[in-house]
Amino acid sequence: MTHETWLITGGAGYIGTHVADLFIADGKNVVLLDSLYQGLESRVIHLRKKHNQEIPFHIVDIRDYTAVENILKSQSFTGIVHTAALKAVGESVEKPNEYKEVNYTATVELLKLAQKYGVKKFLFSSTAAVYGSPDTMEPCRENGPLSPISPYGSTKLDAESKVTEFLNTPGNAGSSFRFFNVVGTASLELLDNSVENLVPIVLGKLNKGEAPVIFGIDYPTTDGTCVRDYVDVRDIAAAHLAAANATKPLPGIINIGTGRGASVREIINLVLKATSKSDTEVIEAPRRAGDPAFLCADVDLAAKEMGFRSKYSLEESIRSLF
Ligand SMILES: NC(=O)c1ccc[n+]([C@@H]2O[C@H](COP(=O)([O-])OP(=O)(O)OC[C@H]3O[C@@H](n4cnc5c(N)ncnc54)[C@H](O)[C@@H]3O)[C@@H](O)[C@H]2O)c1
Repeated sequence: MTHETWLITGGAGYIGTHVADLFIADGKNVVLLDSLYQGLESRVIHLRKKHNQEIPFHIVDIRDYTAVENILKSQSFTGIVHTAALKAVGESVEKPNEYKEVNYTATVELLKLAQKYGVKKFLFSSTAAVYGSPDTMEPCRENGPLSPISPYGSTKLDAESKVTEFLNTPGNAGSSFRFFNVVGTASLELLDNSVENLVPIVLGKLNKGEAPVIFGIDYPTTDGTCVRDYVDVRDIAAAHLAAANATKPLPGIINIGTGRGASVREIINLVLKATSKSDTEVIEAPRRAGDPAFLCADVDLAAKEMGFRSKYSLEESIRSLF
């Protein structure tokens, strides 16, 4: 049993609650912070019931620096898992300033407060969106080209560089994790409620009796549809735990994916099969601007430096949703 206490921002979110779940199971105390912009209090209530403990939960906007400071000075924290963010690529084009405030400026302020209150570990939720739309069929490496094509990706890349400055301060530890496409759930109470990820989009369409849509069937991939790296949220949580418990310094930036690609058509077929709707019509629409043919993680660094490899297959991730 450790006596560590971790602050989890975005602590009522999809990934934040999965990290909290695993940290509590590992004997850590967690304090959750979320504005409930997209997070769900019902997830926190589920965790309280599951672990039979009163998990502190602050409904606070990460941009309310006084409120965040009050939390950090109220007790001593071992580390911060910083998942709070706005993450809708399309919306980021419409509201670039808000994305900058929440994803970049608030991260800078959180890092300053971490430094001020002696919080030594920081795990930042970054994204494969920092790679942009690579014109290659090779997996992305952490030290490869970076070229975000949305304000979402740019704000995360800018925040990463500030996290790196924090990590370079002697005594500090952690990493920026570049998550690829996150799927699956540890339980139905913690399901992803976002509007932009492929699996929830397909499920949403099916629930409304509508046909799922494939954008682009003429990509240079095996079946002509885009290929992405789908990593289970339980693996994402396990990567956080491995990093939190690491006894040696970690690379400042680590891809978290499976290293395997799956096509949009494969995903849709898996969802149709899981819902016994395999005869549903699938609409084939033209390509969308900015969608690369192939975006998958090179996962060697996570394996070598953190001993982390994803465990869940895509079939298991999709099955977990039902
Ligand atoms: N889910 C994915 O596929 C994926 C992929 C790559 C990166 N990420 C990153 O992982 C992190 C978590 O994503 P998620 O999928 O759990 O999304 P999520 O929306 O479920 O979680 C983010 C949480 O942050 C909270 N939040 C938003 N703005 C806030 C603010 N101003 N103050 C306080 N809280 C605020 C939301 O209410 C939400 O609960 C994000 O940083 C996201 O960019 C997610």
